[in-house]
Amino acid sequence: MTKVGIIGAGHLGTIVAEAIKEGKAPECELVGIASRSLGVTPQDLIAKGAQIIVEASKPAALKEMLVPILEAGVSVIPLSTGAFADAEFTEAVKQAARKGGSKVYLPHGAEGAFDLAATYSLVPGAKGTIVQYLIPKEHRSGTYMEEMPVGYRGPALEGFALKPSHLNVVIESAMAIGGFDKAFFEVREPEDGKAGFALELENDYATAVMRACAKPGPNMHTLIAYSAVSMLNRLTQPITF
Ligand SMILES: NC(=O)c1ccc[n+]([C@@H]2O[C@H](COP(=O)([O-])OP(=O)(O)OC[C@H]3O[C@@H](n4cnc5c(N)ncnc54)[C@H](O)[C@@H]3O)[C@@H](O)[C@H]2O)c1
Repeated sequence: MTKVGIIGAGHLGTIVAEAIKEGKAPECELVGIASRSLGVTPQDLIAKGAQIIVEASKPAALKEMLVPILEAGVSVIPLSTGAFADAEFTEAVKQAARKGGSKVYLPHGAEGAFDLAATYSLVPGAKGTIVQYLIPKEHRSGTYMEEMPVGYRGPALEGFALKPSHLNVVIESAMAIGGFDKAFFEVREPEDGKAGFALELENDYATAVMRACAKPGPNMHTLIAYSAVSMLNRLTQPITF
């Protein structure tokens, strides 16, 4: 069994913890959750033998914690991936992972297709667009969507800056696409009325589209928590893909 720790006992961290307890990651055992209110630190998780830590806190917290965790030889699945918009931080993370013999595994999020994005990025002409589909204002709920400029298209890093607390997906997708210079962010109103995200890929050989459409009710973003659990399975199960 692989020992797993979680940082952050909020919405997503709790979903990951419950999923592990329910046996959705059958090769994994939960050793603890780091939480400020419970007084449990990431170092406590490492002391309990955690081999992989799922981070579900805040980008600022990830920036503080990640380097020492990786240097201690523990790999991390981060959900606060917006932290990687900071090139200096990302470089420090790479060095820490090399030093500790550990890795950062970016989760595939709600729209996924990062395997395809990484493959497409190896061929000349590779570029990709992360699209947020917003339904008309009168049908929207939440506040951040109202602030997003429908019709916007720009480089991924510039797009991320529109709403850094809600656009982690742009950063992790851009990294899968092969770098910020190859990735764009676009905000569209969907002709079919379906809100969500899409990843549009192209290179000199082919084009591909992966689109995730939200259903009414549960928040589609909770799928990022399940993508961390599926990442745990890819890392620990004897047959993977
Ligand atoms: N990658 C993606 O596509 C994606 C999608 C949705 C959310 N997210 C990110 O995932 C993270 C978690 O989201 P959430 O909805 O669970 O948030 P949340 O606010 O429900 O929970 C975050 C928890 O982390 C705790 N926390 C903050 N700093 C901490 C620290 N230093 N040590 C330990 N715990 C700390 C908070 O007290 C809170 O309980 C956020 O950064 C969010 O932006 C990423």
